[in-house]
Amino acid sequence: MQLNLVVLPGDGVGPEVTAQAVRVLREVANVYGHSFCFEEHTIGGVAIRETGSPLPPVTLDACLRADAVLLGAIGSPEFDHLSSPQKPEAGLLQLRRALGGFANLRPVSSYAALAGTSPLRTEIVDGANILFVRELLGGLYFGEPRGITSSNGTSAAFNTMRYSVSEIERVARVAFAAAMKRRRKVTSVDKANVLETSQLWRQTVSRIATEYPQIELDHLYVDTAAMHLITNPKRFDVILTENLFGDILSDEAAVIAGSLGMLASGTVGGAIDLYEPVHGSAPDIAGRGIANPLGAIASAAMLLRHTMHLENEAADIEAAIENVLDAGYRTRDIAASSAERMVNTPEMGQLVTEALAEAADRRHAYHAV
Ligand code: IPM
Ligand code: MN
Repeated sequence: MQLNLVVLPGDGVGPEVTAQAVRVLREVANVYGHSFCFEEHTIGGVAIRETGSPLPPVTLDACLRADAVLLGAIGSPEFDHLSSPQKPEAGLLQLRRALGGFANLRPVSSYAALAGTSPLRTEIVDGANILFVRELLGGLYFGEPRGITSSNGTSAAFNTMRYSVSEIERVARVAFAAAMKRRRKVTSVDKANVLETSQLWRQTVSRIATEYPQIELDHLYVDTAAMHLITNPKRFDVILTENLFGDILSDEAAVIAGSLGMLASGTVGGAIDLYEPVHGSAPDIAGRGIANPLGAIASAAMLLRHTMHLENEAADIEAAIENVLDAGYRTRDIAASSAERMVNTPEMGQLVTEALAEAADRRHAYHAV
């Protein structure tokens, strides 16, 4: 299998974690006999420093020609003073729009080895397994008009939350289709007691649900959903929600996995799929080699599964991550006790690479029998 991948390391810890994801992908190519090509480009703060633009045309062109894009992280406090369209984040939002993926899949599950690391009690998180389907191209992130006005010496700022029926329909179908392969339950999250966009959202999702009679659908207000995520995460299978609610709730849900550094994401439905860990650029720990690369590595597994349909390879990466955690290896963010074996970013990448080679060996041995 041939794969042309564009890698956008980006800012902060982005380059450190994507390097480990690429290392694991190289090992996949090696042990399964695939041919993976990697082309690296700049985006975000590093691109502003080099070219003046957060999404240089060479980067965008390369992404549009790729089979998929793997991104590290975006954002740096150095650019806090710039206006929204000039910030590093604008590069990511332009890229998301250009690639066209509207459904951002964020799986969150509790790893057995990490259940004790969560600030939530083990019996609450143990066995939790949620898939967020976050709408990624609409809502407040992209709604027009937006801006800041000043008159008579005072300023006001405004954003627009807008959703069309077709934007809701297409992401709802992704959520229902995903639920068909899971526990067949969709929870749609909105604020329909206050917002018109949410009223349209709820109506539309309920109508699309009639196409999937096997699926159980319920609706929650976003404030209630935020509470249930912490008090009873096992009540959820697929959570379908709009852009900003999904951004907020998926960070909250990271406490179920033990750390934001564990979470992966993939954005599908457009011309080119985009994969990125859920965590940000973490400028406070950047360059120190202590970031957790597992979210980026798990994003690479999602890429193999969703874009390349390489299910065995994806499952072997995920098994390798679990094996390394079961063996007690931890980056700083997921370390609970001094008994665990503390490793840095490259060591964690190396351990997963080795565990992957072993998983692949077992698979080959099994097929040879
Ligand atoms: C995420 C991030 C981005 C978002 C930022 C960096 C623009 O927080 O992917 O969750 O808000 O979508
Ligand atoms: Mn976020």
